[in-house]
Amino acid sequence: MTRYLRLGVNIDHVATIRNARGGGHPDPVKAAKVAEQAGADGITAHLREDRRHISDDDITRLTEELTVPLNLEMAATDEMLDIALRHKPHAACLVPEKREEVTTEGGLDVVGGHNHLAPYVRQLAEVGSRVSMFIDPDIDQLEACAQIGAPVVELHVGAYCEARQVERVREFERLRTAAEAADRLGLECHAGHGITFDTVGPIAEITNVVELNIGHFLIGEAIFGGLESTIKRMRSLMDRATAKASA
Ligand code: PXP
Repeated sequence: MTRYLRLGVNIDHVATIRNARGGGHPDPVKAAKVAEQAGADGITAHLREDRRHISDDDITRLTEELTVPLNLEMAATDEMLDIALRHKPHAACLVPEKREEVTTEGGLDVVGGHNHLAPYVRQLAEVGSRVSMFIDPDIDQLEACAQIGAPVVELHVGAYCEARQVERVREFERLRTAAEAADRLGLECHAGHGITFDTVGPIAEITNVVELNIGHFLIGEAIFGGLESTIKRMRSLMDRATAKASA
């Protein structure tokens, strides 16, 4: 039977465009509703410390207005934990965050940060949020996620998406091996970062991956094709890949 691969649409960069001019247009919550209509299984938003795109009010409105689950990406800080505990999002994805980075550059160091991260995982789980750890496809990190009690990992697939030729083959093997290890360790496996129409297929074919979170490419491509049809095209590429994997 073909497995169903969930699509989480990240709407951060609708807010980036809005914030370039101030005001309220384009509204990321409106984009989230279009994404729901187009078949998104969830909406992802990253509330960054510097509020460069998504705002606190966006999170409030998403919590109130969405009909699909909200996945809140957040750094492991007291400020973000307070906000998450107040909103109790369906899912919380812990990500590393550096002020000067353009985007989330690499995965969390769960091995080195175990003692710092463990209380965040526990408190988010206590309010019913499904906690995921955004990590590089690395076995030590996966084992640390299992030890810390996180039910989900999201593999950072940016290195695979950016790699070419031999390096891409190597990065793909890392992803496949990590997804298999996640399965063995009892961790639900998601993937995200840098996914495009060109890179989604092989990632979607990895049978242990059950959710993809995609943002920048979808919002950028929507300039040319419209948000609804861009999401529908991504959905159909995912469906084609999962059907191929199960054939
Ligand atoms: N997943 C996580 C944990 C992320 O931090 C991001 C970027 O905010 C994404 C997925 C989406 O990445 P992209 O915008 O490159 O599709």
